[in-house]
Amino acid sequence: MNEKTFVNKTVEFSNNLHVGIVKKLLVFENLDSTNSTAKDLARAGAAEGTVVVAQSQSQGRGRCNRIWQSPKGGVYLSIILRPEVPVERASLLPFIAALAVAKTIDLYGVRSTIKWPNDVRVNSKKIAGVLLESEITGNTIHYVVVGLGINLHLDVKQLSPEIQSHSTSLAAELGHGVDYHEFLGVLFQQFDDIYRFFREQTSKKLIEEWKKHSDTLGKTILIQTSEETIQGTAFDIDESGFLLVRTEHGTVKKILSGDCLYFDEGHTG
Ligand code: BTN
Repeated sequence: MNEKTFVNKTVEFSNNLHVGIVKKLLVFENLDSTNSTAKDLARAGAAEGTVVVAQSQSQGRGRCNRIWQSPKGGVYLSIILRPEVPVERASLLPFIAALAVAKTIDLYGVRSTIKWPNDVRVNSKKIAGVLLESEITGNTIHYVVVGLGINLHLDVKQLSPEIQSHSTSLAAELGHGVDYHEFLGVLFQQFDDIYRFFREQTSKKLIEEWKKHSDTLGKTILIQTSEETIQGTAFDIDESGFLLVRTEHGTVKKILSGDCLYFDEGHTG
């Protein structure tokens, strides 16, 4: 790993925040990407519950090869998981991550929704994104890195003009600042609760929870997958996390990942 700068108060920060999922917390002032660092650590054997936090990122990565702009004021973190579940259940992990963030935001009194698969939004503006990266061979899940980027108290004007109009932050929605450490504590607890729910409950129950937050079902959408572009109405999500879309020709398509655009909004995440 390259030389990285630890935040001065690492110990104090860590002691207060060993809550929920967190077994080991590594806090950095700046990283290229917390996901990249977490993957390095996971490959070197880091345990489940190792969490990498950075106060800014110079090469934050988003879904679909996008850049995740990561100025100070946002939450940028990656959680290493080693779930002992059948490999086919791993497809539900992105939903868990989005739910944990959405529920955390709700606890601040701000109603959030999830745009399939895992964009968290407030009033149709993006407030958080999730990037999962994993190593899975055959039936073995070696690790999953769950990367979360949340606009906490950054000013959306710090973001590039193209995304400003459809981005928001928790502080902007609340009209006042949010304590960074307190927010992390709530988030880690929510993540732990939902991750436990995932391991102990049926997929059906988890998807039901996700559906309560969904703003995708019932919408006319355009989805770009790695193979095709699909247009239709999103009408359900199945127990594996596949989005069910009825096309204008009446056929039903099952989609596990892709870039989703709502016709009434005209932009992607
Ligand atoms: C998206 O495109 O919506 C997903 C964005 C995920 C960004 C987070 S920030 C922490 C972690 N490290 C990264 O490089 N990306 C994820």
